[in-house]
Amino acid sequence: MHSLRCPPIIGAVADITLLQGDITEQDVDAVVNAANGSLMGGGGVDGAIHRRGGPAILEECKQIRESRYPDGLPTGNAVATTAGDLPARWVIHTVGPVYAKSEDRSHLLASCHTKSLRIADELGALTVAFPAVSTGVYGYPLELAAPVAIEAVRSASTGVAEVRFVLFDGAAYQAFEEALAG
Ligand code: APR
Repeated sequence: MHSLRCPPIIGAVADITLLQGDITEQDVDAVVNAANGSLMGGGGVDGAIHRRGGPAILEECKQIRESRYPDGLPTGNAVATTAGDLPARWVIHTVGPVYAKSEDRSHLLASCHTKSLRIADELGALTVAFPAVSTGVYGYPLELAAPVAIEAVRSASTGVAEVRFVLFDGAAYQAFEEALAG
């Protein structure tokens, strides 16, 4: 039985939803990882995804590094791997910008979202969960990051039907709620 995979209906994301919780628990097609350029794991979201998703994720990250990104994944870019033991099917690893007062890097943060959605389309993922990329270790203020993330998703041309921002705490949830309302 050949499943006929229709091309995604390209347009704006139908639903942007907010949830306070743990991104590793999300039963969506793809979860986005706030990675670093090494793709070798880390703390925060990265640590949680690798811990819960298991070694298969890191194995594929190593293959990607060897075959496509020997110098590391550049900031603003994204790549996909299996989600291993996570409820999701894929992990889309993206590298957010480190916040800098002296330099506007919002275009790189926006790129994390648009490129992750482009990869979701290539995979045929219809539901995608994003964390608040760059707002932890990378120091991006929530009130600056949230509008960039929301606007990048809102203006994306994609077949993804639902983007779910999964916020780890109340402050992040509130920042995204205000950005969504704005
Ligand atoms: N689910 C959802 N959100 C989470 C989770 C989780 N399990 N764990 C942390 N967060 C939130 C943080 O509270 C923060 O708001 O994700 C946001 C991003 O924080 P980080 O994970 O620190 O990511 P980032 O700021 O992009 O820094 C990336 O940190 O972990 C390392 O390897 C990673 O070097 C990279 C850097």
